Amino acid sequence: MSKASKNVRAEAARCLLAVLDKGQSLSDVLPQAQINVGEKDAALLQEMCFGTIRHFARYDAICHQLLTKKLKGKQRVFHHLVIVGLYQLEHMRIPEHAAVAETVQAAVSLKAQGLKGLVNACLRNFMRNKDVLLKKTANPVTEYNHPSWFIKRIQAAYPEQWQTILEQNLQRAPMWLRVHTSNKPVTEFCTALDDAKIEYEVHPHNPTAIRLLAPKPVDKIPGFDQGWFVVQDAAAQNAARLLGACDNEHVLDACAAPGGKTCHVLDTAKVNMVAADIDETRLSRVQENLTRLKLEAQLVCGDLSDPKTLESFEQFDSILLDAPCSATGVIRRHPDIKWLRRNEDIEQLSTLQANILQTMWDKLKPGGTLLYATCSILPDENKLQMQQFLTTHADAILVPIVNQGHSDEQSLNETVDNPGWQILPGEHNMDGFYYCRLKKSQ
Ligand SMILES: C[S@@+](CC[C@H](N)C(=O)[O-])C[C@H]1O[C@@H](n2cnc3c(N)ncnc32)[C@H](O)[C@@H]1O
Repeated sequence: MSKASKNVRAEAARCLLAVLDKGQSLSDVLPQAQINVGEKDAALLQEMCFGTIRHFARYDAICHQLLTKKLKGKQRVFHHLVIVGLYQLEHMRIPEHAAVAETVQAAVSLKAQGLKGLVNACLRNFMRNKDVLLKKTANPVTEYNHPSWFIKRIQAAYPEQWQTILEQNLQRAPMWLRVHTSNKPVTEFCTALDDAKIEYEVHPHNPTAIRLLAPKPVDKIPGFDQGWFVVQDAAAQNAARLLGACDNEHVLDACAAPGGKTCHVLDTAKVNMVAADIDETRLSRVQENLTRLKLEAQLVCGDLSDPKTLESFEQFDSILLDAPCSATGVIRRHPDIKWLRRNEDIEQLSTLQANILQTMWDKLKPGGTLLYATCSILPDENKLQMQQFLTTHADAILVPIVNQGHSDEQSLNETVDNPGWQILPGEHNMDGFYYCRLKKSQ
């Protein structure tokens, strides 16, 4: 006999507890919670978790006002249950009475019959006194739903655009596909989408990047098993083109897992590819992707800041370094990032990036190209990192990303003081991303 599915709101509250109090990532806890609630409620649970985490600061502050005493220990999950209730009242198309009743019922699933009244009182109090509560809790953190350190960094880096960036981070992420053209020409893939009545839009400057108007599970899209496409944000789809590797080159994808860019480079040229990453589990995903797309690469597991990891390899013609970073460009895709990251992490990450960059530079042939990439929007990891590298490496030449027929790039005015291409979240519906191309002098 199959076990009864768990209550969806109670599971959402448990997920919030795991992420916001215990520091786990939502992508680690959500899959099991979705199994617990069953297929029917999996999408509802996802919406509740993503939505509440996106708007967490607003509802956390209101919740503190509503609860007369702080909930601690085992009762803490009810703080999050109230937040789940508040989010439903403001953002979901669930009638108010049903949202309240179902959330109160979830208290029973959380084995706290006695707290039903408390949850009920909080939600009803919110409905009656919303304006007063919002006024009492208004500040930049609750208004923009980002931590204060992050708002300050974005204001300093983007004095004109900071509000748009923070607003974009609250949007739902679109689903982008990259057509794997060695396995399926773009026109044929588009016909297959038309036949399956799947609506889509092609990126204005990149014909292999296709955005589905409504996200779908991959197995409901034609050709997943046959390797016709991969799920990959359009910003990430610039890497292979900007690297510009040619047939027969010896190429390294450094920090490769799960292999989205490895596969893309192999779709653009017949190169001899080495894909390296420190994380063995993630590296196994590279192999899965290569197999599905019918591609080959040599995989290496190890720390790329350590010169020993690749000591048995000759220098490479081209290196793609998609460095570990704050991932602040992909907050709309992973909203928990903004609450899990700490201000102190940025310095540590930029030190790690500089170390890996130095080791990779030593593995690049004279005359070779290194493309540095991150999914960050913080200058410390991007522009300032590259400025520093260019001023301390006489053999590093900036190769500006311009005039390749990509109109976004026409207006880039790259110099050694302003190196690289910073894509901001939401530009052409893409993730935030950074690219900078360097050549090693002969
Ligand atoms: C941004 S992700 C790479 C995404 C990948 N390039 C893609 O397109 O699918 C960064 C990767 O860096 C790896 N990493 C972190 N520190 C590392 C290190 N010291 N050496 C090698 N890889 C590292 C992480 O395991 C992670 O897979």
